[in-house]
Amino acid sequence: MSDALLRRDLLRWYGRAKRDLPWRRNSTPYRVWVSEIMLQQTTVAAVTPKYEAFLRRFPSLASLANSKEDEVLKHWAGLGYYSRARNLRRAALAVVEGHGGEFPSGFDAVLELPGVGRYTAGAILSIAFRKPYPLVDGNVIRVFSRLFGLKGRAKDPAFVRKMWPLAERLVPADNPGDWNQALMELGATVCTPDSPACGACPVAKHCVAFKKGLQDQLPLPEVGRKPVPVAWTCLWIEKNGKVLLWRRSGKERLLKNLWGLPEASRLAAAPGKVLASTTHSITHHALTVELREASLNGAPPPEAKWVPRGEIRGRLVSSLWLKLLKRR
Ligand code: ADE
Repeated sequence: MSDALLRRDLLRWYGRAKRDLPWRRNSTPYRVWVSEIMLQQTTVAAVTPKYEAFLRRFPSLASLANSKEDEVLKHWAGLGYYSRARNLRRAALAVVEGHGGEFPSGFDAVLELPGVGRYTAGAILSIAFRKPYPLVDGNVIRVFSRLFGLKGRAKDPAFVRKMWPLAERLVPADNPGDWNQALMELGATVCTPDSPACGACPVAKHCVAFKKGLQDQLPLPEVGRKPVPVAWTCLWIEKNGKVLLWRRSGKERLLKNLWGLPEASRLAAAPGKVLASTTHSITHHALTVELREASLNGAPPPEAKWVPRGEIRGRLVSSLWLKLLKRR
């Protein structure tokens, strides 16, 4: 089956079946860029409400460039992978300083921005600038693996590298943004990891895996990576309506450079009564966190700060803390 027929069938389906998502309504470079950074490692369902709130607070690239990092982190709360938010702000500054505030439209200039890799550059250029750059993400890998009957593991770098020439061959000159989004949309809604809906697939007749009945075997299953268990005891130290928060250093394994509740192992304070406990996962780490009451002996160390009780939620951006505080 030809590439042209495959393109036609998938694009027709996309025109009919695409989800109405906020960044698809007004595809400016700024809006597309923010959406693509948020959608890395985060689902459409989790991103959509946060995206709209983020754009209300930072409606333009200039407003993001003029913001304080803590303010950006606060509006990233709950999305995880907080270095994305820091890079977003740094990239906005780089656009203001290096490109007069106008989002660059050249591949190399876009790729140079902090937090932008080949995938994101391809997404911005194809969707916002209508330039025929390909992209490959987890959805595209799965779709190609099945469509072309390619045997490999979706996270195997050698397998991923093989996807780029295919994506490049297929991306059309006229509406590359719709094509790239159609591939991802198919992967997200029809060609799903488990039980793909081949009966509803607009390109099943082009699909090698479907013809051979291999759709449930491709891509090959990941070799299991066991989550690393991590146990924390954190302290609730409250005095005169203020709570002691701890700025985690850049050397921490998890939640680097973010405010948190102090870990008992870092402070001269005897842990008392258990107030709450929760589990939480962060990139292949399985955390078990216990919150205990404590009082501080002596002055707080420089990493710590007394914060009025009503303001701590604005500082504790990881949803780990929200879960823990809700259980108190
Ligand atoms: N995943 C990441 N970006 C996407 C987009 N623009 N459309 C559908 N799925 C996506």
